Amino acid sequence: MKFIEIGIKRMQARFFHVQLALIVGALLLSPVSNAGNHTSGSQSTEAARKQKMERFINDLLKRMTLEEKIGQMNQVGGTFANTGPINPLSDQGKEMREGKIGSVLNLAGVDGIRKIQKVAVEETRLHIPLIFGLDVIHGMKTIFPIPLGEAASWDLSAMERSARIAAIEASAMGVNWTFAPMLDIARDTRWGRIAEGAGEDTYLGVQIAKARVKGFQGDDLSKNNTIAACAKHYAAYGAAIAGRDYNAVDMSEITLRDTYLPPFKAAVDAGAATFMSSFNTLNGVPATANEFLLRKVLKGEWNFNGFVVSDAGAVGELIPHGLAADGIEAARAAANAGLDMDMGSNQFLQNLPDLVRKGLVPEKVIDDAVRRILRIKYELGLFQDPYRYCDEQREKTELLTPEHVAAARDMARKSIVLLKNDYHLLPLKKSIGTLAVIGAMADSQGDMIGCWGGGGDAKDAVSILQGIRSAVSSQTKVLYAKGCEIEANAPEDFTPALDIARQADVVVMTLGESGGMTGEAHSRANINIPGNQEALLKEVIKLGKPVIVLLTNGRPLTISWVADNVPSIVETWFLGSQAGNAIADVLFGDYNPSGKLPVSFPRVLGQVPLCYNELNTGRPLAEHPGDFFRSRYNDVSNDALFPFGFGLSYTTFEYSNLRLSQNVLTKDGKLQVSVDVKNTGYRSGEELVQLYIRDYYASVCQPTRLLKGFKKLAIEPGQTKTVTLTLTPEDLKYHNSKMEWTVEPGKFGVFVGGNSQNTLNEEFVLK
Ligand code: NOJ
Repeated sequence: MKFIEIGIKRMQARFFHVQLALIVGALLLSPVSNAGNHTSGSQSTEAARKQKMERFINDLLKRMTLEEKIGQMNQVGGTFANTGPINPLSDQGKEMREGKIGSVLNLAGVDGIRKIQKVAVEETRLHIPLIFGLDVIHGMKTIFPIPLGEAASWDLSAMERSARIAAIEASAMGVNWTFAPMLDIARDTRWGRIAEGAGEDTYLGVQIAKARVKGFQGDDLSKNNTIAACAKHYAAYGAAIAGRDYNAVDMSEITLRDTYLPPFKAAVDAGAATFMSSFNTLNGVPATANEFLLRKVLKGEWNFNGFVVSDAGAVGELIPHGLAADGIEAARAAANAGLDMDMGSNQFLQNLPDLVRKGLVPEKVIDDAVRRILRIKYELGLFQDPYRYCDEQREKTELLTPEHVAAARDMARKSIVLLKNDYHLLPLKKSIGTLAVIGAMADSQGDMIGCWGGGGDAKDAVSILQGIRSAVSSQTKVLYAKGCEIEANAPEDFTPALDIARQADVVVMTLGESGGMTGEAHSRANINIPGNQEALLKEVIKLGKPVIVLLTNGRPLTISWVADNVPSIVETWFLGSQAGNAIADVLFGDYNPSGKLPVSFPRVLGQVPLCYNELNTGRPLAEHPGDFFRSRYNDVSNDALFPFGFGLSYTTFEYSNLRLSQNVLTKDGKLQVSVDVKNTGYRSGEELVQLYIRDYYASVCQPTRLLKGFKKLAIEPGQTKTVTLTLTPEDLKYHNSKMEWTVEPGKFGVFVGGNSQNTLNEEFVLK
């Protein structure tokens, strides 16, 4: 066993007994496998394994000094070590040797990680391995679409596979913990981090949370190619006031529990190993020190067994928040509230020892946090082999493999949403004569990676132009001009772009944002198409050529003029390493688009925040004629430009014959909802059938539509398929004013269709 050999060779005599105890402990405990995912007949084995684990941890805890315990709760940035082992003279090197660091973030690469792990396991008193965390958000080397883009596929198994591949590649580079998935429901497109999540809907967010946790963690966390997931940012971060990143959040407990928390609860149920608290205050109390969120809900009601890490520097930020006067108060507040690990602010390390000695933080609080952290290290198999994720061979062979690249292309094409396609302009023939490709993003490889690119390299990404060039026939002439920059303060010369547009049969133009315009700290007060891009488009349109717009964006943008004036619009987000190829697959019809928006596109900024599942109000738009009796804007309609769930195909689908198995649902009953979907076009295609409900009268008013099910199916031209989705009373539950998760009898609506607005309707009664 590698670890034993290395361990014994390097072991210093004074550490001998401890080291041996750990090795013997590890041997006794093997094989290590993850909780909760075992096949039948293994329940008692699993219980026994857990008992052993708890014994091991308790035993270790007994031998730890207070400082060593608090060291486990301390995470430091690891960039210092990118080029080699920790400098023994640096403070961090000294702290690590004293057992004052439990985790390192922002490092990747087997060589560097192995060297640092060695310091922890061979040069500290108790030899406790480190856990290495990194933001592996949508791929490590093989980059998949940004999470919002992936969500547009609504394909849960593809998203699970994308996370699985990210875990394989991250773990091949020494990383054993990702700060993902990001589970923040987001309805304000000004917020740049909308790109990192699953969009506006809770039900879809729940399904995606489960898929991604499963993808990262697999069925056994101790395998060397699975990594610990981190459900973030807990909680309600996506509701930052005015869409400004890091801003305060103020919301009712009902909204919090019904809309923002369910994806996090789903992550706990799916076995997520860790959580990250969010930067924001929630109703005045920063999430970092929010006892309600951390102790009452997460660790209490949900019985979460893993650990919670703060967001970067957030314990220290309790001071500017105005919760704590200094680092001492900050550390005290966060630890007592239930935060287990301090990411990078050093406040735990500096202040908790004294706080415990003075009785201001009970030692049992520290013990609980450390137990949780050691548990995850144990589950990852790090006590058995601290170098489990340091396999040089894997690092050479498991990155950017043809299989991973193919999966990225598949995921990318599934994430594309066709927003408009008048006169069947798309798909184009590969034998088309002359194609003009214009746009600031058209020949960019790096931007295709989008925000949080992991270890992705621009050179490994396929630009849109490259994808188009490799798809067209050898006779086709592809002309390219950048046209303009993404952002510009002065007019630009459009001549080269207009020259090539004049020569073209069809113009393909990118429009939108650059890859770095969304993500953390990238909120915008304007959500229009930046710079001179729209002005350029207007000039191109004047030439009278057919124009196809490819949107590149990490958030919904206001594109009303484009929607009114351009025949074909394709939402391409930032699709990752295979962006160009995937886009070409759609442009030339090798793939029939099937994505649907996971987020509403507003018409104008003033509609934001916008989502499909609003309350009816006492003066709903549809039901009253007079101005004072309609909840509406006087200058723009209420609805989205492109609604949640919307997306076209190269074929068309017709819905008919919506029927319910019965019109009365009993409290322990089931309702089958069936609909016929016919492919009325000339190509085979896939359609995402969506099921929404409405609870017409309840003690807490409910939205006019709530997604409760969906199913994607492939249908041949002329063929009709029947889809059946099931509803149970559990699907109808919500929190009442007493915070009870409940359902009340009464009339419900059922809506089925290809988007959230255009549906067939039925009704039933819950008895
Ligand atoms: C801050 C971000 O909010 C969070 O999402 C990320 O995981 C950490 N930094 C670590 O990079």
